[in-house]
Amino acid sequence: MMNEAHPKGEMSRISIKVTPPGPNARKIVDEDTKYLVTTTKSLPIVAERAKGAFVEDVDGNVYLDFSTGISVTNVGHIHPYVRDRVAEQLDKLWHFAGTDYYYKEQVDAARAIAESTPGSFHKKVFFSNSGTESNEAAIKLAKVHTRKQEFIAFIGGFHGRTQGSLAFTASKAIQRKGLFPTMPGVEHAPFPNPYRNPFGIDGYEEPEELENRVMDFIEDYMLHTYVHPDNLAGFIVEPIQGEGGYIVPPKGFHKKLMKLADENNAVVIMDEVQTGFGRTGKFYGSEHFGVEPEIMSLAKSIASGIPMGAVVVKDSLDFPEQALHSNTFGGNALASVACVATIEVIRKEKLLDNATKVGNYLKTGLKDLSDKYDAIGDVRGLGLMLAIDFVKNRKTKEPNAKLRDAFEMNAFKNGLLSLPTGLSAMRFIPPLNLTEEQADMGLEVIEKALKASL
Ligand SMILES: Cc1ncc(COP(=O)(O)O)c(C=O)c1O
Repeated sequence: MMNEAHPKGEMSRISIKVTPPGPNARKIVDEDTKYLVTTTKSLPIVAERAKGAFVEDVDGNVYLDFSTGISVTNVGHIHPYVRDRVAEQLDKLWHFAGTDYYYKEQVDAARAIAESTPGSFHKKVFFSNSGTESNEAAIKLAKVHTRKQEFIAFIGGFHGRTQGSLAFTASKAIQRKGLFPTMPGVEHAPFPNPYRNPFGIDGYEEPEELENRVMDFIEDYMLHTYVHPDNLAGFIVEPIQGEGGYIVPPKGFHKKLMKLADENNAVVIMDEVQTGFGRTGKFYGSEHFGVEPEIMSLAKSIASGIPMGAVVVKDSLDFPEQALHSNTFGGNALASVACVATIEVIRKEKLLDNATKVGNYLKTGLKDLSDKYDAIGDVRGLGLMLAIDFVKNRKTKEPNAKLRDAFEMNAFKNGLLSLPTGLSAMRFIPPLNLTEEQADMGLEVIEKALKASL
């Protein structure tokens, strides 16, 4: 039902009328608990509708959305251009088994994605339905191409929860609890986390030293003691770790990793599921590091909320024969149309520039808050992929997850949706068309919530 306070569906400010969760929300949360399997829910927000940067709940409260459905609605909720393209498609074709038959919408989406990725070499696309499924396909491509079976992933990395991808995921132990055996043949290396790393290096002060320590660990230790290069099919890595806490590695890391992979006839699977489609102020996170991945996994934002994933692969790495891989829903016509429209919106509305500009503005605001409050140990991220890290003590950097969780609840009660990440960080991932005025609205709630949580 349309809320009277917003009769035209325009939501432009935070409005909390009933302390959330209100009575309607509580009822649905109870039913949800009864009928849905336990997953990762952390906040009792029950959405009724959403537009742009705002979400209205079932009790008429309006929130500013700094969570974008975990970096999915990058162009804002129900962007009118994407909506209209999908609406047109609704009367033409929905599903037609894109892996078995042909239709133009799927080709258009593959071409648009291929053209959006870094590297002038020809690329091909496999469409999946989620990030984990994209990574499963990427793992198969790497195995088939290299004819090798072992992989190196990174501590803090997140690549999905199916039994193949889960073997690579290492951001929280609970994700793996009781689930072995996952796919065998996956080892983990430390990620060059500038803020907290096992080498005790301040990676902001000495980025190259950190980079080299990680590369030495892989090359001199792992490849000599337990992963023989003749077995190494590849690495899987996020340009910036997402679920691991929004960790931006030093600038030269990805180039060094790609070089090492090349030297050992292995590939690098670049997992851009969270960083892709403008989140960091460039179309892809890897562009910040000057690398051109030969295999890239995508999902989340690529169809603005219609489920879709993709693997983009250098054409020489394509499967050599039919039937080595396929699925049912990949390249669904509605999702394909939404994907092309999303790319067009990002380009036409210059959302990469906006994400950089407003991202810097928001980051400066967060840094100002960290100057005022010792509980914020680190402010990090690129574009509109930002996070603050809560600590008990700035010197020891001891994580303060309790404070982070209290902050999340207080921000919610004051009308801001944000998402926890890593040990003790809170991420802020608004739509890429966020205005500075909306950034200010968010900063105001962030400070209020912080004060209420201390
Ligand atoms: C980097 C990365 N890879 C893979 C995934 C898994 O995606 P999905 O939940 O769509 O399977 C995620 C999800 O958060 C992610 O952030």
